[in-house]
Amino acid sequence: MSFALSNHITNTEQQMSSPELNRTKSRQLMERAHRVVAGGISSQIRLNEPGGEPLFFDRSEGALMWDADGNEYVDYIQGMGPNIFGHAPEFVSQQVSKDMRMGYVLAAQFERELEVAEMAADAIPIEDCTVRFAGSGTEIVQLALRLARGYTGRSKFIRFEGHYHGWMDSVNYSVHPPVDEAGDVDSPNAVGESAGMDPGTLSQSIPCQWNDVERLEAAFDRNPGEIAAVIMEPINANTYCIMPEPGYLEAAKEIAHRNGALIIFDEVITGFRVAYGGAQELLGITPDLATYAKSIAAGFPIAMLAGRRDIMDVLGSGEVYHGGSFNSNVMSIAAAHATLTHLKSEGDAFYADLNRRGQQLIDGLRRVGMETETDIHVQGLGSVFGIAFNRSGDTIRNYRDYAIKCDGGRYTQFASEMMAEGIRLSSNGRVHMSSAHSEEHIDRTIKAAGRALSRM
Ligand SMILES: Cc1ncc(COP(=O)(O)O)c(C=O)c1O
Repeated sequence: MSFALSNHITNTEQQMSSPELNRTKSRQLMERAHRVVAGGISSQIRLNEPGGEPLFFDRSEGALMWDADGNEYVDYIQGMGPNIFGHAPEFVSQQVSKDMRMGYVLAAQFERELEVAEMAADAIPIEDCTVRFAGSGTEIVQLALRLARGYTGRSKFIRFEGHYHGWMDSVNYSVHPPVDEAGDVDSPNAVGESAGMDPGTLSQSIPCQWNDVERLEAAFDRNPGEIAAVIMEPINANTYCIMPEPGYLEAAKEIAHRNGALIIFDEVITGFRVAYGGAQELLGITPDLATYAKSIAAGFPIAMLAGRRDIMDVLGSGEVYHGGSFNSNVMSIAAAHATLTHLKSEGDAFYADLNRRGQQLIDGLRRVGMETETDIHVQGLGSVFGIAFNRSGDTIRNYRDYAIKCDGGRYTQFASEMMAEGIRLSSNGRVHMSSAHSEEHIDRTIKAAGRALSRM
């Protein structure tokens, strides 16, 4: 294996200028891509590759990736979260290549699918839950909302500023709105994140401030008898990994139920990542419905809805319609089977180790932040955490807090400096640890962060 480490700075004299990476081949490929691929990329966030230009990659393995010019990176994007074992774990590849010989898409049931459903239902804390599979996180959230509407006979739902639930029109409001467009915090505007959104969805989506019990009560009071569900990330991984305040989730559930609405936890990031039973297990609270996707199948495309049997029965009866040619395809189910089997057999030790490695990185980043006297700020869990530049030094409690106190421009600069050092961070500041990140990778990352920060 050839490492292009010579591309990355290693000595102290050169610390004041960023290492220059050769990007010739990536640039040529991107020029070609612009002729046939809209924008050269297939998902909007890829446009924001730290370093200012989307790169082409040739290969990935475990914690590492190599771009088309042979530069090596320690990767903390990890497919935006799914790669809980790092890139291309051998035991998953083997199970997929074995199972796929039976066919790829069957448009029918098979025993492996049932086994995955049984393992998942067993892992998820919702009592007596049943599940349904789909293809992506975006899709599964749509199913959860449709089911909540079908079950309650109501149409509106409450969602929170700073929480991301996929790119569909119904939910693509107020994810990261400019604060001056977000309106009064007591009654926020639903700010569309894209041109071309269906205007009919606007009045159905009621944005609210998270971690704020009174404002949630008030949102229900403003829409009496109309709210089908409250949907949230139980840990706000899409905004700086903000943790729920003690008692908040319990209060939100009680308020929703008192008002005849369901509570949905979007565990697309936290599911099977923060604990085998996801945020529900970690935080000791269950919702009515929960959505999963990223870490169930180690990088293969699959999503899953889990929920209370009486609600899921409305889906099971066909009253609420759900379809999909690729749902429970053989390869994704094989990958999910391998993933859940591995996670279950390793048990708590897997998560303790993942969190320990993540905590080592968090501690190291905080240390170099102090040594360089910079305002780098890290919060979250070892398995998934956020990096920001927080002038106030305060713990961030909700999206507006983040938008006002954190300097996005400085984070972008940091992520670019880290990319030049061969450390690939996501453009949104979320760090995904994997069991493939070794002490050496973590050490390499902390040293690179020290050099990057001292240049800023
Ligand atoms: C919490 C959450 N929900 C839903 C989604 C959408 O998932 P997907 O990208 O698979 O469509 C994401 C994606 O990052 C997410 O973080």
